[in-house]
Amino acid sequence: MKMKNLLNNLNEFALSDSDFQHPSYLHGRLHTYRVIAWTVIICNITDYKKGRNAFFAAMVHDMGRVDDSKDPLHGLNSARKYLPKYKGLFRKYGASETDLDEIAEAITMHSLYEEKNDNETLKILKDADALDRVRLHPHKPDPTFLRYSFTWSLVPAAAELLKFTEGHSKAGLQDIIHKAADLAKVKLF
Ligand SMILES: [Fe+2]
Ligand SMILES: [Fe+2]
Repeated sequence: MKMKNLLNNLNEFALSDSDFQHPSYLHGRLHTYRVIAWTVIICNITDYKKGRNAFFAAMVHDMGRVDDSKDPLHGLNSARKYLPKYKGLFRKYGASETDLDEIAEAITMHSLYEEKNDNETLKILKDADALDRVRLHPHKPDPTFLRYSFTWSLVPAAAELLKFTEGHSKAGLQDIIHKAADLAKVKLF
């Protein structure tokens, strides 16, 4: 199943604050929507087939945070506690058991300091998450933290997307993905 199927059924992936262990401005629903949007844009640019896995990993990656601190284990908590709730939905949209393992590993590892080059889901998730660091450091996610060279060119769009969602706190996933595509000047799948 292709990314297009996800984009045509985004209502199934809607989140509310109560889906998060610690709903917050920094790591809650709108951050998650923006990170999902950047996975879609990155995959659109790379034409990477596993875009769907990165989308799923982004959805769950920060759900298990217990606070907004630098907590390297929140990925593990998210994978253990929250991924199981969504496995049925992810299977419905084509994720195999191997995909689910790769998604679990990406979620777990996104908050650790190790890289893993054979997990593309992790690489896309980490670049998408890094783009939304504009909410912490308005002028720069550190380019040395990025895994794909073109991600750096999306930083101004990431700053604009943040502004858009701050002005539209009720924006849905579809609004945010479409806005990200406009800002990044890409045509969605
Ligand atoms: Fe995180
Ligand atoms: Fe995050």
